[in-house]
Amino acid sequence: MFIKAIDSVDEGLNIFWSDNSSSCYPWFWLRDHSESAEDLHPDTKQRQIDSFSKPVNNNISKVWVDEALESVYVKWTDQSQSCLSFSLLKSMADPNLPQSNAIKLAKIWNTPSEISAFPEMSFEEVLGDGGIKTWLAHIQRIGFVIINGAPATSDATEGLMERMAYVRNSIFGGFSVWDNKLENPDDTAFTSLSIEPHTDGTYVHDAPGLQTLHCLKRDSIGGENQLIDGLAIAEKMRHEHPDAFNILCNVNIPGRYIKPDTYLEAHRPLFRVNGNGDVIQVSFNNHDRAPFRLENDQMANFYDAYKIFHNLANDRSRQFEFMLDPGKVLTFDNWRLLHARSSLTGYRQLCGGYHNREDFESKLRSI
Ligand SMILES: [Fe+2]
Repeated sequence: MFIKAIDSVDEGLNIFWSDNSSSCYPWFWLRDHSESAEDLHPDTKQRQIDSFSKPVNNNISKVWVDEALESVYVKWTDQSQSCLSFSLLKSMADPNLPQSNAIKLAKIWNTPSEISAFPEMSFEEVLGDGGIKTWLAHIQRIGFVIINGAPATSDATEGLMERMAYVRNSIFGGFSVWDNKLENPDDTAFTSLSIEPHTDGTYVHDAPGLQTLHCLKRDSIGGENQLIDGLAIAEKMRHEHPDAFNILCNVNIPGRYIKPDTYLEAHRPLFRVNGNGDVIQVSFNNHDRAPFRLENDQMANFYDAYKIFHNLANDRSRQFEFMLDPGKVLTFDNWRLLHARSSLTGYRQLCGGYHNREDFESKLRSI
């Protein structure tokens, strides 16, 4: 993309692009977004220009385009100079409220048969060149990844998680090892009971981004895990049940977690959407839903909408089912996929933990 022409007007700088589009950037915005080394730290990209403490004279003395450097320069009458790259200007060509990113490159799946190029890797592969990038790409595309042939130890699992980013701390601790024989389990996750499809952390303001699970020892029957693509359900509801979809985008459902000396509560719609209407987070845990009451007709509509989602999530045909076994490390996107578990008899020891969403996104941007 290159610039065909520029034109200085009172309002700002008109830029005419090679694709025949044009944008008018206000003078103050151009000065505030200057990318020169004095105005924007070259390494950290932190803004250094002081746009606000003293009045600025936005009279221009000269504006020119440097094709070789792919930048636009503005010389102001106060002798200061601003520099903006084509890429920044082009990325800001259309005014828009800042938005949280949608789940980019996601290939939604309504049934396991729609999962293309099954997201699995060997332990050696993930440790090799480009391994983490491929691992992240699987999660970004399908919502989960399974690593086969990992050493069935907590140290190896924790080390694997730390290759992506530090392990997040939570009410359950950081990286943890647990089994289903705890005397006083404080969550059904630590029992042998079945667990309906859900996302973790509906009771915290910032739900865990990724969850990793590894079964270190298994001498049990049952306990299969199920994964469901919540983003696929969102898109199905958007098209087939638009009113229900809108209700689930707008009711801030409370979630809670209670144990002695702890009472966590947070509110979030089941589908969190950005200003473009893209779903950026799915949050659903019927077990942890806290009491709330709307006007009677609105409550009835909410229940109808919630039931549609609940029943789609519990539809076995939408569930990818597998057994967590020693050597298989599962990581999934807790902002997109729901997970569930069948009841089991016998003994299981698991380990795992969470990563923050922003650390997952950071690695995707920087690797
Ligand atoms: Fe869970």
